[in-house]
Amino acid sequence: MTDPQMQEFFTHLRTSLTEKNLVRITLSKPRSKEAQPYKAFVKPAYIKGELMLTFTLKNATNDITKNFSIEAGIAEIERYLTEHFYLAVLFTTENDWLIKSARQGKFKLRATKPTFKEPADFTHDKQKNHAIKRADFLTELGVTDAKGRIAKDMGDKFKQINKFVEIIAGLLKKADFIQENKTIKVTDMGAGKGYLTFAVYDYLVNKLNLQAEVTGVEIRRDLIKICNTVAQKVGFEKLQFEKGYIGNYELPAIDILIALHACDTATDDAIKKGIDAGAELIICAPCCHKQIRKAMTTSETLQSVLQYGILQERQAEIITDTIRALLLEANGYKTKVFEFISTEHTGKNVMIIGEKHGRKVDREKYLRETEKLKREFGIVEHYLERQLRAASEE
Ligand SMILES: C[S@@+](CC[C@H](N)C(=O)[O-])C[C@H]1O[C@@H](n2cnc3c(N)ncnc32)[C@H](O)[C@@H]1O
Repeated sequence: MTDPQMQEFFTHLRTSLTEKNLVRITLSKPRSKEAQPYKAFVKPAYIKGELMLTFTLKNATNDITKNFSIEAGIAEIERYLTEHFYLAVLFTTENDWLIKSARQGKFKLRATKPTFKEPADFTHDKQKNHAIKRADFLTELGVTDAKGRIAKDMGDKFKQINKFVEIIAGLLKKADFIQENKTIKVTDMGAGKGYLTFAVYDYLVNKLNLQAEVTGVEIRRDLIKICNTVAQKVGFEKLQFEKGYIGNYELPAIDILIALHACDTATDDAIKKGIDAGAELIICAPCCHKQIRKAMTTSETLQSVLQYGILQERQAEIITDTIRALLLEANGYKTKVFEFISTEHTGKNVMIIGEKHGRKVDREKYLRETEKLKREFGIVEHYLERQLRAASEE
């Protein structure tokens, strides 16, 4: 590429790809009247995780789509411009750049005011949100910018929100408590900045068109204020955030209890509240596991494992979450434990989900299993066990 105007045109194209303000490139005015394609459009698109240039070639009888890597696509545009078309326009949100073939194989470039205000969709294919219906709450919460692009350092949160909605969607598909005329009541304990609370409301109300009341419970007043302001702004009428301490929050009967990354035994408090409130679904992702870690005494066999801090921490996590799962089972919840998002995005990625089944439960079997585990690890009492026992003795 020796023509300086052509070089400048491609510099503007590369910049628009880096700055994500490219709208599209149009190639037109074929050098010969009958030449096909008679026009071509080029847009950026993520294909299998890679940013590429997608060409739509307009022929008299059909349109053909071809994808090229960025470099191959630029070479293809150059080829079309030198051999096939007289004119190309690079539309960006900053400027339109028109390049025309002139005499003696030279090119003329000129800039005009931008025709378009919105750039092409640069959303990574893996990041496109299919479950999230309304994008405005994500913008208000700072997860995306005004153009719907994922904000800096928010990629992991965005993935987490989408994954969480996907999980909720899967659970609700087979849940018989979801009925058109029923108001679904959801409480999110330790709602934090409300990302997941908003997402679950959006899914129930805007995606499934259900009636739902969603409450976020949080100890931090500043977060409650922000979340209530955003809920009002985006018109999520039945979404509210309340100040409350999970352990003594008076939870009315609800359908879904959520507690994601609530600290240490706050997860246990939330599980207990969910069981007492008759929640059909209890969804939690434990955070730290200090209680068991402190309570665990090293039996002789395990001494060599537990002498290493990180292994002791992991062991405490496993034991705590196993006991939580067993106690949920003992209380009539079919329980699964799984990694809900890759460790690459968050270290706190274990999710415990209890689905109330309404069948007779061999409660003693699960309590015996809990006892056995505790004995093995020298644990006198698990916090959740104590809370549940206190309730049954009242
Ligand atoms: C790590 S954040 C998680 C936020 C949100 N659930 C998420 O996963 O994105 C934990 C939140 O729980 C709140 N929290 C911790 N213990 C609590 C308790 N006992 N009662 C109410 N909120 C609590 C904290 O203030 C914090 O905002």
